[in-house]
Amino acid sequence: MRSDLEKIETLRWRDNKLEMIDQRILPAHFEYLAFDSAATVAEAIRSMVVRGAPAIGCAAAYGFALEARRLEQESPENFARGLEQGFAMLAQSRPTAVNLLWALKKMREIWHSSKTSGNPVIAAKLLAKAHEITAEDIRANRRMGEYGAMLLPDNSTVLTYCNAGALATAGHGTALGVIRSARDQGKKISIIACETRPFLQGARLTAWEMMQEKIPVTLITDNMAGHFMSRGEIHAIMVGADRVAANGDVANKIGTYMLAVLAARHGIPFYVACPLSTIDLATASGGLIPIEERTAEEVTGYRDCQWAATGVAIRNPAFDVTPAGLVTALITEKGVVQAPTEEGIRRLFELLQATQ
Ligand code: MRU
Repeated sequence: MRSDLEKIETLRWRDNKLEMIDQRILPAHFEYLAFDSAATVAEAIRSMVVRGAPAIGCAAAYGFALEARRLEQESPENFARGLEQGFAMLAQSRPTAVNLLWALKKMREIWHSSKTSGNPVIAAKLLAKAHEITAEDIRANRRMGEYGAMLLPDNSTVLTYCNAGALATAGHGTALGVIRSARDQGKKISIIACETRPFLQGARLTAWEMMQEKIPVTLITDNMAGHFMSRGEIHAIMVGADRVAANGDVANKIGTYMLAVLAARHGIPFYVACPLSTIDLATASGGLIPIEERTAEEVTGYRDCQWAATGVAIRNPAFDVTPAGLVTALITEKGVVQAPTEEGIRRLFELLQATQ
């Protein structure tokens, strides 16, 4: 494990390949894996080498660009057919985080607008777009961080869930980006990280990421959150999102809803930080968001260790929906929406259009 890590590069372009940290084996091992096609990137997304809504979007964009490079010497017909297949493979890799489809649609726009160019020109434009989507994600996270940091009082303890940090994005992070920015503003913030069963993104990734940054972090199991809230030891909750519906309902890692209900019970602000690429205006409300169900093995154990009886019935939804009414504020790169409503969210997109 590297302990001198200053900046976590979740994804990077090296030697004409996409390299991604293998998040399945962190923090015991820090290793980059290299990818050179849509199929291998789609499999990396599905198997959680890379995870976190914005990071998945960036990976999918690179996957599409890699496919174009791989097929560069093919006839225009084979090139087009291959790109459609690559698009479908990537689009199906995970269903809930909408950043995946958002990024792929941006890539398809570039492809369709340059269809009369030769394959190498299209491939070069697609790679440039993947770089742009990745760079813009970091810029959005930094802006979001500045807005969100203003909401956190000095000397506060913030509970977070899953990993919405640099590892879940192209860099800086969404929920953890707000923490980083608050720290950069000179505030003393400490973190309580829930371990986040079953994939342990909190225990394995958030705790590690915060330790790399020297931001004070305490790890708890998920069922301890209510206890600490009831004792007044948590001043705010800050989470990310995988998809926000037009009415402000939030799909995020399974267990988020439980925390939002507890936060309301104890009068603790519940904040959601996400870029506009996570907001899906085409989905009216949370009940319409597709919820991924993952394999039983994630619940019966982790990697080589199985603790539940073989054959026991399992349910494993990877996300849940927190109704907008439980969200104190939505923090985005275009500003903060208090008590999010459809109207408040639409205004963010008007601001986005005005600056494009
Ligand atoms: O299953 P994962 O690890 O991809 O789930 C990730 C989350 O739920 C994050 O909270 C969300 O994607 C926001 S990441 C900035």
